[in-house]
Amino acid sequence: MSELKESESDRFSGQVAVITGSAMGIGRAAAIRFASEGASVACLDIEEEQNETTAADAAAFGAQTTAIACDVRSHAEQAEAFEAIVEEWGRVDVLVACAGVYVGGPLPDIPPERWEDLVAVNLTGVLVSNSLVAPIMIKQGHGAIVNISSMAGKTSWPNSAEYSATKSGVVGVTRSAAMELGPHGITVNAVCPGNTLTGMVRQVAEEIGETLDMTGDQWLAMRAEDTALKRLAEPEEIAGVIAFLASEDARYITGQSIEVDGGIILA
Ligand SMILES: NC(=O)c1ccc[n+]([C@@H]2O[C@H](COP(=O)([O-])OP(=O)(O)OC[C@H]3O[C@@H](n4cnc5c(N)ncnc54)[C@H](O)[C@@H]3O)[C@@H](O)[C@H]2O)c1
Repeated sequence: MSELKESESDRFSGQVAVITGSAMGIGRAAAIRFASEGASVACLDIEEEQNETTAADAAAFGAQTTAIACDVRSHAEQAEAFEAIVEEWGRVDVLVACAGVYVGGPLPDIPPERWEDLVAVNLTGVLVSNSLVAPIMIKQGHGAIVNISSMAGKTSWPNSAEYSATKSGVVGVTRSAAMELGPHGITVNAVCPGNTLTGMVRQVAEEIGETLDMTGDQWLAMRAEDTALKRLAEPEEIAGVIAFLASEDARYITGQSIEVDGGIILA
């Protein structure tokens, strides 16, 4: 699927979208999607070089873009980023809190520092983005927040307690924020992707495949077979749902955590 195609819509024309985790994968696809539909896009990521590439590729659609080096584990870095965006563009209409990492393993082998770091990125990072954008959107009287959880936030399998816990936490943040911010005209939803073909899933495939005596590709093929659609997602397919949730068409949807998993949870 080609990610750099002509936009067929200007749904986000005049709007400002902030995407965390934009250097790669789903966040990159979201940044490009919003830019292709007319938004000015602020790309926040810890991987500076690849993030600059995303911002440049998104700008190819004629959008204004900026790449901001930001570690979502740091409240100060996120606060500085949001301040700079508001100073430059005066508003934030859409937040996509996508930055995340995966680690997994058996319960007895979870080192405390690994857990703490995972929570810092996947959960604290999302909570802080939501808390920093809230006053900006409240002042505007409108906005859309899309947090990226996972099918792991809704269902469970062995050796994934840490990751599942952070992604269930994102669902909790989303529900409460939706109740709190709804009266201000702000929607808050989560997207729960299934296995999506990004660097993250390829790394997971190699790691889990090794424990099961199979190659990463074999594990991915097995996961594809587990879905109703018999294939894994492309990042652009997740970005499409993110964009829908941030659009006017979704203005009466809030507090939801929507599975985009090819039907894997049904299996
Ligand atoms: N790929 C999947 O199968 C899948 C499934 C369910 C959920 N997700 C979730 O989707 C989101 C995106 O994952 P992806 O598959 O695109 O992964 P990815 O590894 O391709 O991209 C993750 C991005 O987050 C950034 N990031 C990581 N730590 C950061 C930090 N401390 N500060 C700022 N940026 C940071 C990375 O640099 C990268 O650009 C994650 O939250 C992930 O948990 C992915």
